[in-house]
Amino acid sequence: MERCLACEAEGGLVERCLACEAEGVATPWSVGPTEYPRRFENRNMANLNHHNPANRRERERGLGLTSETASTVPTESASSGLAGSRQSEAASQARQRSTNLSVEMIGISKKFGGVQALKDVTFNVRPGEIHALVGENGAGKSTLMKVLSGAVRSDQGLIRIGGDDAEIVSPHAAHALGIRVIYQEMVLAPDLTVAENISLDRLGKVVDWAGIRAKAKAILTDLGFSVDPGELVRRLPVSLQQVVEVAKALSAETKVLVLDEPTAVLTPKDADRLLELVRTLARRGVSIIYISHRLEEVFAIADRVTVLKDGQTVATRNISDVTSSGLIDLMIGRPITQLFPRSNRTPGDEVLRVEDLRRDPSVKGISFGVRAREILGIAGSM
Ligand SMILES: Nc1ncnc2c1ncn2[C@@H]1O[C@H](COP(=O)(O)OP(=O)(O)O)[C@@H](O)[C@H]1O
Ligand SMILES: [Mg+2]
Repeated sequence: MERCLACEAEGGLVERCLACEAEGVATPWSVGPTEYPRRFENRNMANLNHHNPANRRERERGLGLTSETASTVPTESASSGLAGSRQSEAASQARQRSTNLSVEMIGISKKFGGVQALKDVTFNVRPGEIHALVGENGAGKSTLMKVLSGAVRSDQGLIRIGGDDAEIVSPHAAHALGIRVIYQEMVLAPDLTVAENISLDRLGKVVDWAGIRAKAKAILTDLGFSVDPGELVRRLPVSLQQVVEVAKALSAETKVLVLDEPTAVLTPKDADRLLELVRTLARRGVSIIYISHRLEEVFAIADRVTVLKDGQTVATRNISDVTSSGLIDLMIGRPITQLFPRSNRTPGDEVLRVEDLRRDPSVKGISFGVRAREILGIAGSM
């Protein structure tokens, strides 16, 4: 195992140590295939629930939200066999400082033709926090994140990353700043392998195939998933494709990770796994921006929440200061008494009847009827 010569953090040999930012030494983040360190060994997912008061306190200390001194920040070194090492504790704190970045978006406006998608939006993310971004469809959430990730240029506004003004003119520029987005729609290459996808952005003319496979395997194992790096992405279930997206983001030096409706296509169980993964990343110091229309997810993982409506910022709140109905009121812009008010309709005659519909292998005899003026719900798991 290599060590950074400056701060002694463990890792493989690369240009710059992410723990202390010294050059020409090892780093715990960008590492060689066999040396990917198991930095945050706590696999007990129950302990990762940051609504557990102890964990929340721990994270708040990491976020600099409490007045306790840095020397009380718990480090992950205890489980990596270096317990008690003051040097590794210092390295861990240095890493925390260097990987956590704040995001400030100030006065962002964007028009698409006649549509004012964003109007003077202000949005701030603290280093290492999970910040939820919510709002009705068309509120401007995705556009705001596209501005942050360089996919869309804003007409007006300023972005500061880690306190420095940032010109994010392209996705490449965003990547260079450590900003990554995981969209709801897959952007993986389906006919490449898991390993090829994870290293795709960094493949040169000469590819160390064994190396990229080993690196992919190491990252996925570190995240707690067993996925064959040689498998074609299109053969994986959607949930594991999301995991590969996260692994891809982690294989680079990601400091700000945006997840735009990542659970929309997942089953509840897979969505839970993804949430655990998001918590793990936040504990590692990645700042997370989490877009979801599932408010229960927002309450489960977010530290703060910002509401957008019609392209404008409505409010930013600590998650502990809002209720679900309060959040919906902010999103809709008026108090609502019923989320889904019933209308008085009397269904008429049956206008459609389906009997014993079959199609191998998935449809095995389905029957239903629809009456005039009625809304028929069809439910089931994915
Ligand atoms: N490329 C585009 N061209 C034209 N209009 C767009 C484009 N992208 C988004 N919009 C419009 O901007 C508004 C905000 O959209 P979006 O950011 O996707 O909202 P959200 O993600 O909150 O649902 C919507 O009215 C949408 O139709
Ligand atoms: Mg959207």
